[in-house]
Amino acid sequence: MAIREVRACGLDYLALATELLHRARLADPEAGLCDLEAADLQWWWRTPRRSDTVEQVFWLDDDGPVAGVVLTDWGRAWGCDPILVPDAWTVSLPTVWARALEAVTASGLEAVEVSARDDDLELLGLLAEAGFVADNRRIGETWMDAEDRRNVAPLAEGFTLVDRAQHTSTPHPMQRRNGDGVEARLRQCLLYDPALDLAVEAPDGKVAGYALFWFDPVTEVGMVEPMRVEDEYQRRGLARALLTTGLDRLAKRGARRLKVAYATEAARRFYVGAGFRVTSTSTSHSCRPVDMGEGR
Ligand SMILES: CC(C)(COP(=O)(O)OP(=O)(O)OC[C@H]1O[C@@H](n2cnc3c(N)ncnc32)[C@H](O)[C@@H]1OP(=O)(O)O)[C@@H](O)C(=O)NCCC(=O)NCCS
Repeated sequence: MAIREVRACGLDYLALATELLHRARLADPEAGLCDLEAADLQWWWRTPRRSDTVEQVFWLDDDGPVAGVVLTDWGRAWGCDPILVPDAWTVSLPTVWARALEAVTASGLEAVEVSARDDDLELLGLLAEAGFVADNRRIGETWMDAEDRRNVAPLAEGFTLVDRAQHTSTPHPMQRRNGDGVEARLRQCLLYDPALDLAVEAPDGKVAGYALFWFDPVTEVGMVEPMRVEDEYQRRGLARALLTTGLDRLAKRGARRLKVAYATEAARRFYVGAGFRVTSTSTSHSCRPVDMGEGR
């Protein structure tokens, strides 16, 4: 099958990456080279980044994108995500990785990080060879069948659950952390649904917590990202009420499998307590390109 390379930035990049991750997830329901969903990249789109104008590289076969390299400006460093459709033999990981290193060098990036699954020996080998070193940021992936979800938990007295489909007159609850344009950016995303954009208001109207749920009709996966309860409102069951409500709405949209990632022990306990099962862990590996040049 003929393979061609394509470069895309901005919303064209997001459309191609969505198509690629759909294909990857349909080829492998749980694992795959990377643990990303199309919804992850749409969530990353919530705020303008220098990487919006970077020409990202994709490999296309007759059926569409089969591999790609995604560079994302996280501020502290640039993320580099090599993505391949599992079992597509037309493009290999070493080919994609070599192009990723070229892109990193060509873009003059100061610090780069790659999240690699702890059981992905091929990528771990390539990272070590290029001089990347594991840092202490780890995440875990958890999954649950939608039919195993818990009943919707009630909210503590005086608190109210709202969604962005009904409640648009107030500033978006994620504005403080993600900037004034967060709602407009989210609305540019194919998978964003305001009725799955939930918040809990305290009795005085302040935002006590929020969570966003993403239903993907192509993969029938429902994903949670982000989930937050502000410090002063924690341990009152607000996250449990947000999560069970959101998962129920996802299941009613048609999600068959539910997914969420965690980055802290509190979040792991929270999700496992809600019925999710940890399926993999990943560790971030970082490098400064100047060091990488020496390692190659
Ligand atoms: C994780 C988080 C969402 C939990 O919110 P919360 O409203 O305090 O959680 P709940 O009160 O609904 O807790 C439900 C259960 O989760 C577990 N849990 C919640 N916070 C916990 C913590 N800090 N340590 C251990 N277990 C915890 C407990 O089992 C708890 O039940 P219990 O209180 O009856 O023991 C909140 O701490 C938070 O927003 N943290 C910062 C952002 C974040 O980490 N988000 C998660 C995505 S990675």
